[in-house]
Amino acid sequence: MFPENRPRRLRRTETLRRMVRETHVRLDDLVYPIFVKEGTALKEPISAMPDQFRYSPDMLPKLVKQIASSGIPAILLFGIPKRKDPTGTGAHRSDGVVQQALKRIKDAVPDLVAITDVCMCEYTDHGHCGILDDKGEVSNDDTLEVLAKIALSHAKAGADIIAPSDMMDGRVGIIRESLDEGGFENTPILSYAVKYASSFYGPFREAAGSTPSFGDRKGYQMDPANVREALREGAYDIDEGADIIMVKPALPYLDVIRVIADEYDTPLAAYQVSGEYSMIKAASSMGWINEDACVLESLTSIKRAGADMIITYFAPRVAELIS
Ligand code: PBG
Repeated sequence: MFPENRPRRLRRTETLRRMVRETHVRLDDLVYPIFVKEGTALKEPISAMPDQFRYSPDMLPKLVKQIASSGIPAILLFGIPKRKDPTGTGAHRSDGVVQQALKRIKDAVPDLVAITDVCMCEYTDHGHCGILDDKGEVSNDDTLEVLAKIALSHAKAGADIIAPSDMMDGRVGIIRESLDEGGFENTPILSYAVKYASSFYGPFREAAGSTPSFGDRKGYQMDPANVREALREGAYDIDEGADIIMVKPALPYLDVIRVIADEYDTPLAAYQVSGEYSMIKAASSMGWINEDACVLESLTSIKRAGADMIITYFAPRVAELIS
């Protein structure tokens, strides 16, 4: 008895496969994260993230011109300041590292969309994402005031999209208010709505020097076991005015991306985080996997799960591969 259904008929050649392909990774989907470190003439390799660097602001014009000419529409900026303090004041200084970087970037390539990560962990001497109370816990409401200041200072320096990643309750609302009052009612918010307390952030914390000096982030980031909670987080952030919401990390949370994509029509971003990047880099450097093929396969999976855009350290390479 031979099979009547023969799906293999449409798999025979690459041209046929192209015709029936359901999911495409496009240049327009990509966002490239960049680490900016205070100083001059710096391009420091990040050991846990091969081929990624910490750049000083003066080095950015050349980099962002390359990124823009490759067709990538957006970058995401993380700041690494010289000095840290208990309340992260460096994050909202008008001459802070991200603010300096924004001026350079907007002068060099005005059209490139500059997204800024709004968080305090790179700026606090204890490495937590907010202000500590007397018990050493991150105080939600004290932190909100600072986040609102950081967001406004980024917008003033030229940020096109504000991306809060701290996971305090109510931050989207207070940031929206602060942007509106400052005259930035047209600046969108990309909220890290569904951000898990993930061990896959390890290489990033080395890159950004943002490992907490005690404890962990489980008191504010989400428990990896939860998905119904992801729906609540999404609902709160959309209600407070988020224009784009994000799920992070990406590959270990494809089911969460799918649930959020089905539930909300707000544009959805997914973050292929540092640990996802470094795993592929490490295995390919050992000769165990084909790097380019695994990168494209994972990004395709993230889109298939329902993401509209992907933040990925592989963006420049992907741009070469798909254009
Ligand atoms: C800041 C922040 C982190 C990441 C993005 N924003 C680290 C963390 O929450 O500890 C991780 C990104 C990555 O791993 O690539 N809070």
